[in-house]
Amino acid sequence: MLAQKGGTGKTTLTIHLAVEAAQSSMKTLIVDVDPQGSATTWWRRRSQEQPSLVSAQRRTLSETLSKARKLDYGLAIIDSAPHSSDIAREGVRLSDAVIIPTRPAILDLDAIGASIALVVDESTPSQIVLNACPPPGRYGEPRIVSEARDALQTYGIHVCPVAISQRAAFSHALIDGRSVSELDPAGKASAEIRTLWNTIKKAPGL
Ligand SMILES: Nc1ncnc2c1ncn2[C@@H]1O[C@H](COP(=O)(O)OP(=O)(O)O)[C@@H](O)[C@H]1O
Ligand SMILES: [Mg+2]
Repeated sequence: MLAQKGGTGKTTLTIHLAVEAAQSSMKTLIVDVDPQGSATTWWRRRSQEQPSLVSAQRRTLSETLSKARKLDYGLAIIDSAPHSSDIAREGVRLSDAVIIPTRPAILDLDAIGASIALVVDESTPSQIVLNACPPPGRYGEPRIVSEARDALQTYGIHVCPVAISQRAAFSHALIDGRSVSELDPAGKASAEIRTLWNTIKKAPGL
């Protein structure tokens, strides 16, 4: 999960996709490389065994992932930190696929260039996921979302057809160490994450 900008949803999507994968019986590991440790704080509030979580730094990341492979983990999601180009590059280099979350607002779209340069440089299969979007209305995707898709086309990186909406449930669920699918499995937020996971797991590299 890569974005050189803070607040785009790296931790939120890491947590939610990890729980989704774990619920589909995939042995899943979150690798927290953000010194702020938001995913770790969430994980400590949990009682469920899966997903597992481990912290890593630049020099331990490679070994952490090899160990996970030996322990039969089917998926490891690296929750990266903003503004740390060294570990970001190492993460991209070691990953089979990269997800770049972005909000659909212009300042976020402007900031995506550094992340894209990195995945292009390392030739790692990647896709952009629009997060915290206004929810779809009666006439489908809101204009700001379709305009963001148009703007992102110029980068030549796949933009995931599934956009995640701005919904209180995505932060609310985390308060006691849950995810939206554990808090409200029938809710709209859960449906979006389920669709995102079902789409992402078929992505090149995964
Ligand atoms: N889809 C969403 N709906 C509602 N709130 C969101 C959503 N995505 C992120 N947030 C909120 O935005 C803030 C930043 O998200 P976070 O996942 O921590 O970003 P990052 O890890 O990229 O810095 C958090 O307060 C989080 O709860
Ligand atoms: Mg984070």
